[in-house]
Amino acid sequence: MSLILAIETSCDETAAAVIEDGHRIRSNVVASQIELHRPYGGVFPEIASRQHVYDIVPVIEAALADSGAGWDDLTALAVTRGPGLAGSLLVGVNTAKAVAWGRGLPIIGVNHLEGHLYSNWLDEGGKIVPAAITRPGLAELDAAGRAFPLLVLIVSGGHTEIILMQGHGRYQLLGATLDDAAGEAFDKVARLLGLSYPGGPAVQKAAEGGDPAAFDFPRALTNYAIQAEHRFNFSFSGLKTAVLRQVRELGNDPATLPVADLAASFQAAVVDVLVMKTADAARTHGVARVCVCGGVAANKALRQAVAERLPVPASIPPFFLCTDNAAMIGAAAHYRLLSDGPSALDFDVEPNLALQIER
Ligand code: KG4
Ligand code: ZN
Repeated sequence: MSLILAIETSCDETAAAVIEDGHRIRSNVVASQIELHRPYGGVFPEIASRQHVYDIVPVIEAALADSGAGWDDLTALAVTRGPGLAGSLLVGVNTAKAVAWGRGLPIIGVNHLEGHLYSNWLDEGGKIVPAAITRPGLAELDAAGRAFPLLVLIVSGGHTEIILMQGHGRYQLLGATLDDAAGEAFDKVARLLGLSYPGGPAVQKAAEGGDPAAFDFPRALTNYAIQAEHRFNFSFSGLKTAVLRQVRELGNDPATLPVADLAASFQAAVVDVLVMKTADAARTHGVARVCVCGGVAANKALRQAVAERLPVPASIPPFFLCTDNAAMIGAAAHYRLLSDGPSALDFDVEPNLALQIER
């Protein structure tokens, strides 16, 4: 049995988890810093790393206690080494190295994006079946040799990518955003509409009473007759500008703006292009399943559209696994350990780390 203690501190969540055999969540602890950063309207890097220092040891102790396992039961340590904020990553990486060295355990430095991707492998040992996950789960499909090829849509604060996965750790990039990431667009539009940080959940909440057809916002790069090379690429900066222009035209006063209609129309434009292009890629590449992951995968409108409008079954992790957590890092680490073996103890944080893409 593999039993990995995983640590994630790439941004503003201090997280630790214990993962069995790459998919079973034995424990999953997240200390969120949202309230600390709210006054600044975004993540304040120095405050984030200082808070990680305060929280990391109690969070690890809680994850181990919740798992029912002892230090001697662990088979490896895993930690996010990038991408993310350098000062935040350093706290997790140095803590994990100290623990690994002290306990004589192998350590695996994990790519945060690969973690998001492997959030789709997680389950809770049959105890809780989150409604949003298509059954059978990916771990079961994988054990039966039927998981690949798989299409992955990563939608987070820093990334928007469509990836074709032919096997564990084997990624082909089909398309990506040319400018803003989907989550970044949510965060920027939230600010335009006078909504609070974090922007994604605030826009979703504001959109609840709104009409998604009230404003006809652009769906960029969907005219394949003239943009064939961008078939699976995205662009969200023009959409943000269109919302800005509309807000100005309406008088720019947050008190009188039709915020619900603006939020709903913006959200519909983002969801439309994400789902349209993912469906197109799934058909083109003949995959049996689509996985959606990253912070924006928590968006209810996107979840509903994915469930209704894709040509093949889709998996989306439950909400608590869409936003940053360490369980997903433990799942990714399990497969990396099998393919690459452990990392050398002198690996460093890599704030701009990208997924290893096959040509
Ligand atoms: O994956 P994540 O937690 O951090 C990164 O690795 O980037 O993603 C954070 C992003 C933020 O931009 C946030 O606004 C967005 O995910 N997000 C959402 C929702 N929840 C989080 N966007 C839309 N709807 C949501 N419900
Ligand atoms: Zn993330």
